[in-house]
Amino acid sequence: MKEGDIKFAKLLVLVNGLVPLALLVWDQSHNRLGANPQNFLILTTGMMALIFLILTLAVTPLRKIFGLNWLIQLRRMLGLYAFFYACLHFLCFYSLDRAFNFSSTIQEIIARKYIWFGMTALLVMVPLAVTSTNGMIKRLGGKRWRALHRLAYVAAICGVIHYYMQVKADVRLPLVFAAVLAILLGYRILEYLRSRKPKAAAVPAK
Ligand code: HEM
Repeated sequence: MKEGDIKFAKLLVLVNGLVPLALLVWDQSHNRLGANPQNFLILTTGMMALIFLILTLAVTPLRKIFGLNWLIQLRRMLGLYAFFYACLHFLCFYSLDRAFNFSSTIQEIIARKYIWFGMTALLVMVPLAVTSTNGMIKRLGGKRWRALHRLAYVAAICGVIHYYMQVKADVRLPLVFAAVLAILLGYRILEYLRSRKPKAAAVPAK
């Protein structure tokens, strides 16, 4: 892919990542978020965080299986959008559900097990976002950076459990997310096992 095309792909992701937020702001300002707008905002931002997280994790398998090397250039932005929507999700919960009351927020977090998982997912995403810059990649070194960024799987697993646990009746969609995550994780485990297999001894040239 040419440099110009990659720049365009990045612009597409940048703009499209902001579309859900723009729609939420627009619908909110026109009172079109349904009977329970606060809940709608919490649920939609949570869903966007999870979708972006899964898309971020899909980059490497898609790149390797289909040879789409340019996809790697979009990964950081997808990951940062996941973090951005996760922060927004927490902020909606803290402001709209808990009215900025710190002790009530802590009480709710302690009382509801599904929030433990959401909280863990969010906390795990913090070092990933902080170390996403080129400078940090250089400072940490590729090996350590990659090891740290495996935490993205922990965030996604906690995010899916959080989603599954808070759904009241129909668990089909959380299960679809769990299945997609299992495939992505399975791919990574297979790759790891393959890389550890001893290479066949080279046949000495006669
Ligand atoms: C401190 C962190 C978090 C808190 C306090 C929190 C809280 C909540 C709450 C209160 C709900 C709505 C429950 C309901 O109305 O029944 C929710 C739903 C949800 N959250 Fe979180 N969450 C957190 C982090 C996360 C993170 C990091 C993710 C994604 C990686 C996430 C993904 C979701 C999803 C997908 C839903 C359900 C959306 C839907 O049903 O359409 N949450 N969360």
